[in-house]
Amino acid sequence: MEFSELILQWYNQNKRDLPWRDTANPYIIWLSEIILQQTRVAQGLPYFNKFLEAFPTVYDLASADEEVVLKLWQGLGYYSRARNLHQTAQKIAFEHDGKFPDTYAELKKLKGIGDYTAAAIASFSFNEVVPVVDGNVFRVLARYFDMSTDISTGSAKKEFFELSQKLISVSVPALYNQAIMEFGALQCVPKNPNCLDCILNEKCLALQKRKVSELPVKRKK
Ligand code: ADE
Repeated sequence: MEFSELILQWYNQNKRDLPWRDTANPYIIWLSEIILQQTRVAQGLPYFNKFLEAFPTVYDLASADEEVVLKLWQGLGYYSRARNLHQTAQKIAFEHDGKFPDTYAELKKLKGIGDYTAAAIASFSFNEVVPVVDGNVFRVLARYFDMSTDISTGSAKKEFFELSQKLISVSVPALYNQAIMEFGALQCVPKNPNCLDCILNEKCLALQKRKVSELPVKRKK
């Protein structure tokens, strides 16, 4: 089986049940991805639920006072995320008639939506064949393909994005993106991964070369 098939099979058997996975609604996907940036799922989940309850639609978020939004955000940190969230909600509600742009390129034009978030929304909501590249993806690919590129550089982002474009399933891009992130979060973890019990262990170059603990390479913090 090829890489994407193995990852998809693993995901099917091991995925967590997470609320933002039951929907293709771009508002809900966007909200979850902004909350989950630099935040663990266990920490982000209660915020996700609180936000969705307080602001069920992009119009509700757009119409709220900024201080109400910031108050709900309290404890998550990186408050620029909350300010951008609110501003972008206003732009979508009042300038885009409440509709999210439906392509990776258009999504990236919005404040607070970078490569990762645009790829997440474009694939999860609109099935665009565009790969997500987050810390999990860096780690899985760096190990499987034994790549020693320093992942803190911009050129690494480009290299991993281009490799990911070749690996992504064109028939189920959303599932593939969820799957590789989940694989990094649960199986190919940063410290002491259980490589004895891993579906990729026969072909993982880092494992063959005993370099799993050295990859990915990250110089600056
Ligand atoms: N962390 C960031 N995005 C995520 C997602 N869609 N599912 C699980 N964890 C995530």
